[in-house]
Amino acid sequence: MTTIGIIGAGNIGSQLARLAVQHGHEVVIANSRGPETLTDLVDELGPSARAATRDEAAAAGEVVIVTTPLAAIETIPVEPLTGKVVIDTNNYYPQRDGHIAALDDETTTTAELLQAHLPASHVVKAFNHIGAADLTGHASPAGTADRRALVIAGDDEGAKQAVTALIDAFGFDVVDAGPLAEGWRIQRDTPGYGPRLTADELREALAAAKRYRDQ
Ligand SMILES: NC(=O)c1ccc[n+]([C@@H]2O[C@H](COP(=O)([O-])OP(=O)(O)OC[C@H]3O[C@@H](n4cnc5c(N)ncnc54)[C@H](OP(=O)(O)O)[C@@H]3O)[C@@H](O)[C@H]2O)c1
Repeated sequence: MTTIGIIGAGNIGSQLARLAVQHGHEVVIANSRGPETLTDLVDELGPSARAATRDEAAAAGEVVIVTTPLAAIETIPVEPLTGKVVIDTNNYYPQRDGHIAALDDETTTTAELLQAHLPASHVVKAFNHIGAADLTGHASPAGTADRRALVIAGDDEGAKQAVTALIDAFGFDVVDAGPLAEGWRIQRDTPGYGPRLTADELREALAAAKRYRDQ
């Protein structure tokens, strides 16, 4: 059993909280407005979950998921996440997030921005390319024919192993895209972004991905 901190309690944060609780983990979950606004969600999740502030979720989590709009990553606490595995689900939508020059010219990627904000943490990009409802709707046990696969990317092998184990337990095969810098292969508008794909299909989709600037 792991304590999973979740910063962001919207579509994805609440779904990952459901999966975490279903699979025997403790959840400490935060949003921007404060724990008192998460009463309905924690009531639904049951005794394994509690609402907290962003700082408390970061401190309590052995693994911490950041699943906010991209602009909020500057508010993610740094010190309590030192040495921890941090999962980044975020995507870049300029109409929602505002323009970020280094993403527009593709000199970095979304998860590398979070890694730069959290230099002493081990950021793994995951869960960014599956619709929120499908996190529970498409989950299936290991060995299921045509099991859906999800991509990870990260610079720390141990962190990637931990996230791989979590994703497998949640109900998905895992395809490793490589270091964080390769995370662009599963960014918005790439072939792997959105559809239900097996591991082999997802590897093909990653290989076929094109940079925005080359399209
Ligand atoms: N929706 C999807 O199907 C999907 C799929 C894959 C990846 N993603 C990506 O995952 C991220 C989250 O998406 P979402 O759809 O779950 O977003 P969402 O439904 O809009 O939820 C965002 C959550 O983040 C919280 N938040 C905002 N600013 C915060 C801050 N400074 N500190 C702590 N919490 C903060 C919000 O809290 P308040 O409500 O209190 O402001 C809310 O709980 C986005 O980057 C999105 O692109 C989404």
